[in-house]
Amino acid sequence: MKNLAVLVSGGGSNMQSIADSAKNGALKGLAKVVLVISNNHAAYALERAKNENIKSVCVERKNYADAFSFNAAILKNLEENKIDIVCLAGYMTIVGVDIIDKYKGKILNIHPALLPKFGGRGMYGHRVHEAVIEAKEKKSGATVHFADENYDTGKIVMSEEVPVFDGDTPELLAARVLEAEHEIYPLAIKKVIENLDKEV
Ligand code: GAR
Repeated sequence: MKNLAVLVSGGGSNMQSIADSAKNGALKGLAKVVLVISNNHAAYALERAKNENIKSVCVERKNYADAFSFNAAILKNLEENKIDIVCLAGYMTIVGVDIIDKYKGKILNIHPALLPKFGGRGMYGHRVHEAVIEAKEKKSGATVHFADENYDTGKIVMSEEVPVFDGDTPELLAARVLEAEHEIYPLAIKKVIENLDKEV
């Protein structure tokens, strides 16, 4: 059984889908969400964690002198809770290189577009969907990839396409993509766990 930590900043619907899957879905018996870390004390994801009886901590950048001590605090929480796999789920800040190094091949991110298109610095949340509509793309989707020291460049684990319709708004497209995110994130975690188990 792998211990998962989910790092969040906002609504936490992906965290919920991972936790649900660990209880009753594809991740049942394979993984458990043991820790939620938020960089935003107002994140609804913290409420969700409480409802699910999942331990949560809030680690906000403003409470640390520099990025190094901020990331060290996150790493300490991951280590103290014996975390095997880190899942970034709407975590809207860059992850420190120390964490990336420590969890190489075991730290995942979900992005609300079909990478490598529409990724990179500044491409998050609604901006992604606005850009996809602006570019008149016929399809978008969700991508789960390994996190590395850059934005959205790590190896892709799984993606799922959704159509973009004429007259779509960023809100409509975001909702369609989010459904795909909820489907693939648990499945991508499962795939990573199975591959890790094969390596042992
Ligand atoms: C999701 O659409 C996720 O892909 C996106 O933020 C949303 C978080 O929703 N992440 C990014 O844009 C990161 N680049 P959630 O808090 O309900 O899971």
